Amino acid sequence: MDLVIRNASLPDGSQGIDIAIESGRIAALGRSLPMHGKQEIDAAGDLVTPPFVDAHFHMDATLSYGLPRVNSSGTLLEGIALWGELKPQLTQDALVERAMQYCDWAVARGLLAIRSHVDVCDDRLLAVEALLHVKERVAPYLDLQLVAFPQDGLLRSQTAFSNLKRAIALGVDVVGGIPHFERTMADGAESIRLLCEFAAEKGLRVDMHCDESDDPLSRHIETLAYHAQRLGMQGRVTGSHLTSMHSMDNYYVSKLLPLMREAGVAAIANPLINITLQGRHDTYPKRRGMTRVPELLAAGIEVAFGHDCVMDPWYSLGSGDMLEVAHMGMHVAQMTGQAAMHACFLAVTETPARILGLQDYGLTPGCHADLVILDASSTIEAIRLRAARCFVIRRGKVVSQAPPAQAKLNLPGRPESVDFRLQRL
Ligand code: FE2
Repeated sequence: MDLVIRNASLPDGSQGIDIAIESGRIAALGRSLPMHGKQEIDAAGDLVTPPFVDAHFHMDATLSYGLPRVNSSGTLLEGIALWGELKPQLTQDALVERAMQYCDWAVARGLLAIRSHVDVCDDRLLAVEALLHVKERVAPYLDLQLVAFPQDGLLRSQTAFSNLKRAIALGVDVVGGIPHFERTMADGAESIRLLCEFAAEKGLRVDMHCDESDDPLSRHIETLAYHAQRLGMQGRVTGSHLTSMHSMDNYYVSKLLPLMREAGVAAIANPLINITLQGRHDTYPKRRGMTRVPELLAAGIEVAFGHDCVMDPWYSLGSGDMLEVAHMGMHVAQMTGQAAMHACFLAVTETPARILGLQDYGLTPGCHADLVILDASSTIEAIRLRAARCFVIRRGKVVSQAPPAQAKLNLPGRPESVDFRLQRL
C-alpha cells in the first residue's frame, strides 16, 4: 500500500479503523488491517473524514478587502455597490493571484472542493477567464466548480444572458441566477424559467442566489421548484440563501417544503453572511435571517452550509474554515442536539459533495483517498474546537500538515509546565 492510516475514528462514530490507500484511492477500511504501507500515519483515535466541501463561494471577489475602500455600513447593498466600483479596476493577474492564495488557505483547512459563483456581468468576462485558469491550475489538489452568476440580474442587465451563455461555452459548469434582484417579481420568475430551460437543454446543474431578502413575499424558490419538477431536473437544482423563508408565513412554508422535496431541490444556507447581512432594516427584535435549516432537513431536503465570502466587499472576516461555518450555522439554527450537531458537520462535508455531484467522494473502498485527520475525536468535537487539520491528504498524498493546538502552562497550584492538547477531553 502507498499509505496506511491506523486507528482512526470516523464521522459515523466507529473507532479503531485502519484505512489502506493505493494509487490515490481507498483500497480497504477495517479493524487491524494486515497490509503495510510505504508510509504509515498513526491517527491515535483522531477523526478522519472526507474533506470539507464549500457549496457556495465567490472566488472572484475573495481577498479583495479594502479595494478600493472598505464597506463602511457592512450592508449587502453597499457591498454590491462596492463590487461595482471594484469591477472595472480588476485585472486578470490580480484575480488569479488572490484566488490561488485563497485555494492555499482552503487546502490548509482541509477544504478540497469549492463551488464558486463567478460574476458574468462584465462583457470582458475577465473573472470567468481568470477562474477557469485557476480551476485548471488547482485541479491536482482542489475541485473548483464554477457557477455563471449574473450578479446584476439576468433581465436587468442587457448583456447578462448572452454573457452567461458565453461563460458556459468557455467551460463554466453550473447555471446561476438572482431572481430577487430582477426589476419585478414577474421578471424574477421569467429569469428562472429561462435559466432552468437553458440548463435542462445543456444538461447542466442550476444553483441560484434565491430570495436573499428579508421580504417574506419573495417566493422565487416556489418557481425554482416548479421548473425543476417540470423539467425533470430533480437532484440537480439548488436554491442558495433562501433567507426570505426565515420571515415567511408558517402555513405557506408548510406547503413549500414538500414541493421542494418533490422537486429534489437542495438548499444552501450561508450562516456567517446571513447573520450579518439580513435583518438590517429591523430595529428590535432583529431577525437572524438564515433559512429554516432544521425544518428543511426534517422535510427530507438536502441542506449544505456555504462560506459565501472571505475578506471581500460583503464580509471582512473569514479564513476558509468550514468548521467555523458549521459552528455559526449550528448556533444560528439552534441545532444543539447531538444528532443536529452531527448534521451540521455533514452540511460542510457529505451533503455539499452530493449537491456538487462530486464523483467518488467518501469513505468506502474505491473512493478517492481525499482525507483530513483532525485534532478531535468526533464530528461534534471538531466543530466545538474548530480543530486543527493535522494532515490533509489528496489522492493519497499529504498536501498539508499542521500541529495540534498546544499550550505550555505555568500556573501556581497546577502541575509544573504542562504540554497538552488543548481542550480535548
Ligand atoms: Fe453568494
